[in-house]
Amino acid sequence: MSENQSVRARADQARARGQEVVAVIGLGFVGTAVAANLARARGKDGQAIFHVIGIERGDEAGRAKAAALARGEPPVYANDPKLAEAIAEAGQKTHNLDGCTELAQVACADVVVSCINLDLVRPVGRADELSVPHQGYAAAMREIGKHLRSGAIVCIESTLPLGLSDRVLYPALCEGAALAGRDLTQDPPLYAYCYERVMPGPGYLDSVNHFWRSYAGIDARSADRAQAFLERYVDVAHFPLWRHKTLRAAEMAKLLENAYRATNIAFIDEWTRLAENAGVDLFDIVNSVRVRKGTHDNMMFPGLGVGGYCLTKDALLAAWGAEELLEVEAALPFSRQALLTNERMPLRARDWLSEHFGGKLEQRTVAIFGLTYRAGVADTRSSPSEVLARGLLERGARVRGCDPLLSNWDEVPAAQLVADPRQALAGADAVVVSLPDAYWRERLPSLLRESPTPPAILVDPWNVLGDACYGELVRRGVRVRVYGRGDIPKPVKPS
Ligand SMILES: NC(=O)c1ccc[n+]([C@@H]2O[C@H](COP(=O)([O-])OP(=O)(O)OC[C@H]3O[C@@H](n4cnc5c(N)ncnc54)[C@H](O)[C@@H]3O)[C@@H](O)[C@H]2O)c1
Repeated sequence: MSENQSVRARADQARARGQEVVAVIGLGFVGTAVAANLARARGKDGQAIFHVIGIERGDEAGRAKAAALARGEPPVYANDPKLAEAIAEAGQKTHNLDGCTELAQVACADVVVSCINLDLVRPVGRADELSVPHQGYAAAMREIGKHLRSGAIVCIESTLPLGLSDRVLYPALCEGAALAGRDLTQDPPLYAYCYERVMPGPGYLDSVNHFWRSYAGIDARSADRAQAFLERYVDVAHFPLWRHKTLRAAEMAKLLENAYRATNIAFIDEWTRLAENAGVDLFDIVNSVRVRKGTHDNMMFPGLGVGGYCLTKDALLAAWGAEELLEVEAALPFSRQALLTNERMPLRARDWLSEHFGGKLEQRTVAIFGLTYRAGVADTRSSPSEVLARGLLERGARVRGCDPLLSNWDEVPAAQLVADPRQALAGADAVVVSLPDAYWRERLPSLLRESPTPPAILVDPWNVLGDACYGELVRRGVRVRVYGRGDIPKPVKPS
């Protein structure tokens, strides 16, 4: 029996046992968590509710991901032990998790959940020259449409530009269905948008189904079907579902949520500079303002920047979708400016180092501690450290990167990845603490204390190492700079 026949036979057996068959398309950070979550869902009788088939692309990386899932191993790394446990249990005990690279296998499914990535492309420093190559996504929908069973629903969880569902994806799905001979007037495909809020980190798996979820359908039947599906595995007793009026409203909800957060982060940047110029500590100030619960308690602290796949693009998906698909005005000046402000934030650290070394970074060695986009998360996409490292390399500096979660740093191959923080520090001219991570708070102060030759300058944008460490370094002649802190004295030069 071929791989595809086996996948189909196991799905048929599962359906005969009463399980709902779900195909999850795209086994990246989102799809993996979704597939594992569905596989661990249990009914009142303790039995697995779903039989899950993860479907990836047929390229080398896609084949490796699908094969990992089929073996009972997570296709992506996450520092949430529950992920590997859920996938192993599904692979070895409940046998309700499969992996393959054949999109036609959606023919087995009652529900198709799409977690395909959708990138936004733009030149650095521009928020008005945008493109979203969505043809691949539309082609996948067309292919799904050709094979989708009557009565099955497609639920999209990817973050979509405004209007993509009703202008591109649903028409493509229908086109595929029509090509396969389906009568669209009698039996239109069911389609819903159920955006994902999964949060990488230690609570990765639970953030899919122990969290508020929103959805909308192309029509009432689709919305009802999506609701019934979500209710089977989301903890709706504690996290009630939110039904939006239209697909477009649900698309906008996701984009607004992330644009709001990106704008909050950008807003603090101008006050960071003001605090530095005025000689005050903005961290102390923000802490004092945050006591006003309900209106001010999510004010952001200064930091190196914002990274990851979502906050760096989602506001612009709204602008692109509005202008290109809906052909409506979408100036969005705050949101566009926010993304540009956030993008530039890491380069302030580079500029401080450059200023310290008289404008010359050539041959200076800079050790960067923390390379992923978020503390405790092994995802390096669009990390502020990448922007900083590239900026330093452009100016001729040597970059050493250190991160306990990484064994390679594909985005910045010219940087030297050093596993041992002691080795990273040895002989470094400058140090940047690039993540607000307790891991570095616990280790770096003593390593710096023990280091016979401290760096000439330490930049700690997130205020991680603390005043005791800064005081000690300043006494040893090290220049210490922290974003938003104008209160840290310069070292006294020996007379
Ligand atoms: N990463 C997050 O925390 C997060 C949170 C919420 C929403 N989202 C959104 O979810 C979507 C997916 O994000 P991600 O981080 O998982 O991306 P990802 O790049 O990690 O994963 C996407 C996967 O889809 C696969 N894929 C692409 N085209 C395919 C096709 N035609 N057939 C089968 N597989 C295909 C890719 O090979 C890849 O493995 C994005 O739209 C993202 O904005 C992400």
